[in-house]
Amino acid sequence: MHHFTYREGHLYAEDVALEAIARAVGTPFYCYSAATLRRHFRVFADAFADRDTLVAFSVKSLSNLAVLTLLQKEGAGADVVSGGELSRALTAGIPGDRIVFSGVGKTRTEMAAALEAGIHQFNVESVPELQALNDVAISHDTTAPVALRINPDVAAGSHDKISTGRAEDKFGIPWAQARDVYRLAGNLPGIAVKGVDVHIGSQITDLAPFEKAFNRTAELVRALRADGHEITRLDLGGGLGVPYQHGDDQSAPPHPEVYAEMIKRIAGPLDVQLIFEPGRMITGNAGILVSRIIYHKEGESRRFLILDAAMNDLIRPALYDAWHDVIPVREPGSQGGKVKYDLVGPVCETGDTFARQRDLPELAENDLVAFLTAGAYGAVQASQYNTRPLVLEVLVDGDRYAVIRKRPTTAQILAMESVPDWV
Ligand code: LLP
Repeated sequence: MHHFTYREGHLYAEDVALEAIARAVGTPFYCYSAATLRRHFRVFADAFADRDTLVAFSVKSLSNLAVLTLLQKEGAGADVVSGGELSRALTAGIPGDRIVFSGVGKTRTEMAAALEAGIHQFNVESVPELQALNDVAISHDTTAPVALRINPDVAAGSHDKISTGRAEDKFGIPWAQARDVYRLAGNLPGIAVKGVDVHIGSQITDLAPFEKAFNRTAELVRALRADGHEITRLDLGGGLGVPYQHGDDQSAPPHPEVYAEMIKRIAGPLDVQLIFEPGRMITGNAGILVSRIIYHKEGESRRFLILDAAMNDLIRPALYDAWHDVIPVREPGSQGGKVKYDLVGPVCETGDTFARQRDLPELAENDLVAFLTAGAYGAVQASQYNTRPLVLEVLVDGDRYAVIRKRPTTAQILAMESVPDWV
């Protein structure tokens, strides 16, 4: 469900024509729908409204301050993975006690900042990290609220590069060591053990791996309680997938209601606060990338559409072979046939290919196209490769829109660098 629809032949974001935005701000740009963001957050939060739950939006999926502020107003907490994301969440007005800090490599400086912000929980992933956090907390004369992230050794069934819960992945504390590490944590004066954390991967469209991991985790909570730990929180991570391909019901993810039912069945009897870290489920379908066709090139065996967006603006196809639906911003007539195109960017790499042999209506130079479901892990993974400026972002809310991240000028990009006088 999203708010990018055709009206009288033109693609709109809510009540704003994308052609009007493109004229005003240039291309390429990301465009987010406030209504879609709000709706997705509410659907998720409402599914758990009858329980003590913290929905900590996974900032990494879309970290623009305007989006964080909008979600904060809906009641979102934040899941952060760096000092930078912590600052973003706090700047957006998300209170410290609604922030959880995840990630395998928190530095002592980041830990100190998070303690000063009074965050709800550190999700700790190793013994050395636990010891470092203990030291930092003691030096701050406080105790750090902690959940240990346990690796349940469950394959999430999504793309290899975004699966995190198998024994060979770098994440979490090995299942077999969990009780020993909790014993250690329980004896560290700077650590307050609060809960258990698990996150098995991203873009998961099947309930089964979740269910397997959560059952194992519930089993661990019981064992830890038997060992004398007071476990009052269960952080079940993020990972719920979104539909990327229109009309593909096969890989449609479960509705949050169905996901919630399964979780309540498993976690209900434990009487814990539930914490979630959804990212993609909230932001994925709330954003598109709009790009203009620079050239139409007839290759030996392929027809190429060369766009003004490139892999530096949306890296998901290059990195994960990800599929994004592409649609023209001017709605095609019902008469015309389909043509197979390869959609590519201007970056000097063959990998700078968004789609191969994609069936599209006939398109021409200067036409605009939109990549759908680009809200999650789109703009946040953008770079300035080939000295292409960081991609611009726009937020639409009803009939209003605003640029929420500017496109830097080349002069601004160059101004970040300096040439030592000894060169
Ligand atoms: N919690 C933790 C600890 C995570 O590592 C992640 C995502 C999330 C929550 C949010 O997961 P979500 O609900 O968004 O699936 N760049 C990749 C996805 C990387 C996901 C990394 N971790 C992509 O474009 O598909």
